[in-house]
Amino acid sequence: MSDKPRVFVSRVIPDVGLDRLREHCDVEVWPKPTPPRRDTLLDKVRGCHGLVTMLSDKIDESVLNTAGDGLKVVANYAVGYNNIDVAACRERGVAVGNTPDVLTDATADVAALLMLAAARCVTPAAASVRDGGWKTWAPMDHLGVELVGKTVGVIGLGRIGRAFAERCRGGWGMNVLYTANSPKPDADRDLGARRVELDELLAESDFVSLHCPLTEATAHLIDAPALARMKPTAVLVNTARGEVIDQEALHAALKENVIFAAGLDVTTPEPLPTDSPLLGLSNCVVLPHIGSATRHARGGMAIMAADNVLAGLAGHPLPHPVG
Ligand code: DGY
Repeated sequence: MSDKPRVFVSRVIPDVGLDRLREHCDVEVWPKPTPPRRDTLLDKVRGCHGLVTMLSDKIDESVLNTAGDGLKVVANYAVGYNNIDVAACRERGVAVGNTPDVLTDATADVAALLMLAAARCVTPAAASVRDGGWKTWAPMDHLGVELVGKTVGVIGLGRIGRAFAERCRGGWGMNVLYTANSPKPDADRDLGARRVELDELLAESDFVSLHCPLTEATAHLIDAPALARMKPTAVLVNTARGEVIDQEALHAALKENVIFAAGLDVTTPEPLPTDSPLLGLSNCVVLPHIGSATRHARGGMAIMAADNVLAGLAGHPLPHPVG
């Protein structure tokens, strides 16, 4: 048996990261296109010193206990880390890392893509081409809403929220409102942005985009009363985490035209079951959580996760720690 540290990687990630790990560690990669089942995950982490985990892996006390005292580091292959019990890791001296920055532009692009797609009725329009519904140029079909000069509300003006706001300001000259835990004088100066309370943001915005982490405070932040505060012409975009929206309330709001449309890259659960009522709505665009899915971002994430693992194994501070 090798005396190299053992690392389990719970999905195939780009070689650029795996090769870096393999230089120093005994690496086992879960080879299947779907995540390991819970019992398999527990089996695989036993005796590991490092883990590279996905947002679909719940890393809790039982994973940490099963891994054992040798576990030094958990490197999440994502910027969000709501799947990890960070407090439990800290108690055991297990370092936790994530992959910020490198996926900022990719994710902000998907938020912009969803905003446009939902605003311009892309789901029913594209479907009509395939299903024969497109009979002729139609003066009254697929009438969407325009973006230029409108107001966008950004919930959570972190890295991705800011990059999305820049696209809205620079591309369509939108007015930017935002919620954030602290003032963002740079955004106020550079983007003419204004920090407001959530209720004002919901009431004033033509487009609302979610960029906050999933925490106890943000779970179901967008519920039925929040949706009712939005304009009937408003478009809601979510590239953060599905649980930030009360999905049943969203379904009702879209069905009853309480808001105009929604674009979702994240849902509860993931994957969204194919019989989800959301998928029966023409004013809802749903993507399979592809915010960071560019070659550049995913390659960069692989390098960052590998660097986090190697630093953690060496007992050094992680280059990309969470929190
Ligand atoms: C993240 O990084 O948190 C995204 O949701 C997936 O890349």
